[in-house]
Amino acid sequence: MERAPRVRPCQGDGVQPYDVAAFREHFPALRAGYAHFDGPGGTQVPDAVAEAVARTLASPLANRGTVTEAERAADTIVRDARAAMADLLGGDPRGIVFGRSMTALTYDMARTLAPSWGPGDEVVVTRIDHDANIRPWIHAATSVGATVRWAEFDPASAELTEDDIAAALSPRTRLVALTGASNLLGTRPPVRAVADLAHNAGALIFVDGVHLTAHAGVHLDALGADIFACSPYKFLGPHCGVLAASPALLETLRPAKLAPSSDAVPERFELGTLPYELLAGTTAAVDVLARVAGDGPGTRRDRLLASMAAVEAHENRLRDRIEDRLAALPGVTVYSRAAHRTPTLLVGLGGREQAAYAFLAERGVNAPAGTFYALEASRRLGLGDSGALRVGLAPYVDDSDVDRLLAGLEAFLMA
Ligand SMILES: Cc1ncc(COP(=O)(O)O)c(C=O)c1O
Repeated sequence: MERAPRVRPCQGDGVQPYDVAAFREHFPALRAGYAHFDGPGGTQVPDAVAEAVARTLASPLANRGTVTEAERAADTIVRDARAAMADLLGGDPRGIVFGRSMTALTYDMARTLAPSWGPGDEVVVTRIDHDANIRPWIHAATSVGATVRWAEFDPASAELTEDDIAAALSPRTRLVALTGASNLLGTRPPVRAVADLAHNAGALIFVDGVHLTAHAGVHLDALGADIFACSPYKFLGPHCGVLAASPALLETLRPAKLAPSSDAVPERFELGTLPYELLAGTTAAVDVLARVAGDGPGTRRDRLLASMAAVEAHENRLRDRIEDRLAALPGVTVYSRAAHRTPTLLVGLGGREQAAYAFLAERGVNAPAGTFYALEASRRLGLGDSGALRVGLAPYVDDSDVDRLLAGLEAFLMA
């Protein structure tokens, strides 16, 4: 089997390993005894997050306001959550929008932007993205007669290059929708270079950061993303979505909204009452992440970057262990081969992936098979609408989980 390159661009010297056993103690769900390689679908939740959600629901709470304690509590929760997400992403709290999910926020943003496009205008989507960063743009472009152009990726290398995007760009491009990291293959496309290309063409770039944010420190400015979306439930938090942009950009946009609701930014983009308990849980998740590498000096942002570097080092070490073993097993194809990638393996087993998923599940190892809504990518890889086995790492996965996964896969292949 062709080997994936070993590249660790973000793993510099000075990254401190963390105590994974102690970290795991904070995850009540892990006591059920499963090995969780299903983190890309949604991570397990630490006690601090569950407690923050429960505490919020059990405390005086009302709609945001300044008169009653309950109103002030809601207001504080929203402000804290915007500050936490701004720290995690390197953004501005005034540009943090909360919503039901990344998918819902992306549809909302597509419907907001589309009225400024028309026939002859173009939107670029990629074949490697999750459908949540494809279909909303296709629907929005179609609704105003704009053209959709596709950027292809190379299925052999799992790479999507700057040139692949350049081939789909034109002076009529209004928006490029690109993932920060593929949830199917782990591929991390050159977002910054693509952002520069998009900006030179006068287009915006919308970055799907759902998979990336769980595995790497995010710097919105360095990425060049105009709009970035992610989902806290992929990084130890509760089920909601977050969109981040500069307040100046958000000020220029007029989403459809109710007449009495706030027209301020970012509230203008938040439809209905926010899920305060989930926002409190999101803040707690960011605080847990910020402590992975310890309670060192500096700001929460500094600690988050140190922690994400530690998470990345830990997850990449486990990924290397898995990849090394898989390379020695017959009948296994590893599709996740990009040079710059998250620790997310896509494994083909000659059409027996669903059977392997079930076989592993019987042994307490959760590694699902499917396309994971990266349908276009799966088809491009020749995996059709069934996809393959995905092995995703998370900060709480440890060596014994990897031992169980590898033993399970070996037993499956010999059965
Ligand atoms: C890369 C990626 N983008 C978007 C989504 C959709 O996120 P949400 O469930 O918040 O809509 C997912 C969910 O799996 C994902 O992995």
